[in-house]
Amino acid sequence: MDNSTYIIKGGLSLNGSVAISGAKNAAAAIIPAALMTDGSCRVENIPDISDNAKLFKILRRMGAQITRVGRDAWDIDCSGVKTHVAVFDEMQQIRSSYYLVGALLARFGRADVAMPGGCNFGGPRPIDQHIKGFTALGAKIEINNGVLTATTDGGLHSANVLLDGIPSVGATINIMFAATTADGLTVIENAAREPHIVDAAQFLNLMGADVRGAGTETIKIRGAKKLHGAAHTIIPDQIEAGTFMAAVAATGGEVELTNVIPRHLECISVKLREMGIVVDEFAGEGRVVVKSSGKITPTDVKTLPYPGFPTDMQPQISTVLTLAGGTSRVTDSVWESRFRYVDELTKMGARARISGATATIDGVRKLTGATIKATDLRAGAALVIAGLAAHGTTTVEGVEYVERGYEHFVEKLNSLGADVSRSGYVSDSMSESIAGDAAFGVPSKQA
Ligand code: EPU
Repeated sequence: MDNSTYIIKGGLSLNGSVAISGAKNAAAAIIPAALMTDGSCRVENIPDISDNAKLFKILRRMGAQITRVGRDAWDIDCSGVKTHVAVFDEMQQIRSSYYLVGALLARFGRADVAMPGGCNFGGPRPIDQHIKGFTALGAKIEINNGVLTATTDGGLHSANVLLDGIPSVGATINIMFAATTADGLTVIENAAREPHIVDAAQFLNLMGADVRGAGTETIKIRGAKKLHGAAHTIIPDQIEAGTFMAAVAATGGEVELTNVIPRHLECISVKLREMGIVVDEFAGEGRVVVKSSGKITPTDVKTLPYPGFPTDMQPQISTVLTLAGGTSRVTDSVWESRFRYVDELTKMGARARISGATATIDGVRKLTGATIKATDLRAGAALVIAGLAAHGTTTVEGVEYVERGYEHFVEKLNSLGADVSRSGYVSDSMSESIAGDAAFGVPSKQA
């Protein structure tokens, strides 16, 4: 990783209005899903983040034609993809490369795919439930030298798949992908229910698949012969919205978030209200307004699969709680070791101790600027929040992690009154190598 930094002059409250981008983890599934057809797909509201730039590179290398048709709208035409092999360096740099297994199995009945990478939370990120599902559908899976090979005897067949333990988002979507063209009725039990699962299922249905029950714990997929091209708009990013809400909670101020689905934010809004933050929802208008005096009431938080409090908001809410007037406990039951950023927060004066999957946080009156390092995407976002709320200047290193998942983060924060500047290498952008982006009003990134 290159060492790019954000330099944050802290202590400024956030005020104004910010438009939330398309959901990273929905795009992470929907872009690979375009591989499942030889028709062309138009996908709108794709956030310009480096993870998506990598996905585009992977698809292009496989023969896809990808064309920008609007500020955040792209045509993805995979008619030129004739291969089931996806073994590229970029595959190991992102998590969602695992969706290529399900997508290629559905289209070609086989897949050779490099094993995924993604954020390192200091513990394992298994894919056994994905493999269990593919195997039940009739695929034979082998992993050799970092490449997962899935073969079938003339295609997949339907199956009943019961996911074990915490319902896996990735396994739910991947099995749903593979089953779209598997003969018969596949049933996934103990499926994950995150909003991006519903979004991915909607895209599949627009492509001619028959997926029912997405958003509940039982998903039924009746195999279709072939999928076709479709047009779809990705849902707003629940976690990007939550991150801005947490930032306002920590700095004080009043911010309107537009292009959101307030229902998806409910699990976050409920906790923020417990902490004394005002969150007003305007469901019909797709916006929420967050108001904070900067005074934070301590509370306990436990992350759970949707509709529980999301693990992808755990570092951000914990950071807000470092400024609460008392002691809070935060337990991450999805990624138990996702607390590596806490050491960085203590450099800024935070007081917290970790025991197993729980952080006990004793609120302090103020954080002080320091040089700190992002260890993963959400940890990086949390450190930015700490820098915004802190007295003095904070330098956040390793911001390439942040730019894996937040579109125009610096520009958006500065438009709300923050003082953040960036230095160093510029993260991959999806518009890379595409001329004429000015026509779509795409801001250029500053080095
Ligand atoms: N798990 C298994 N076996 C599996 C898969 C998962 O035991 O085969 C366990 C994991 O160890 C974990 C839990 O199940 O304890 C949930 O894992 P899940 O499969 O749901 O996570 P994922 O698909 O790898 C996605 C998001 C993550 C997010 C999690 C949980 C993408 C690309 N990533 O990961 O997003 O934390 O779901 O909601 O969609 C992020 O955006 O910062 C991020 C890390």
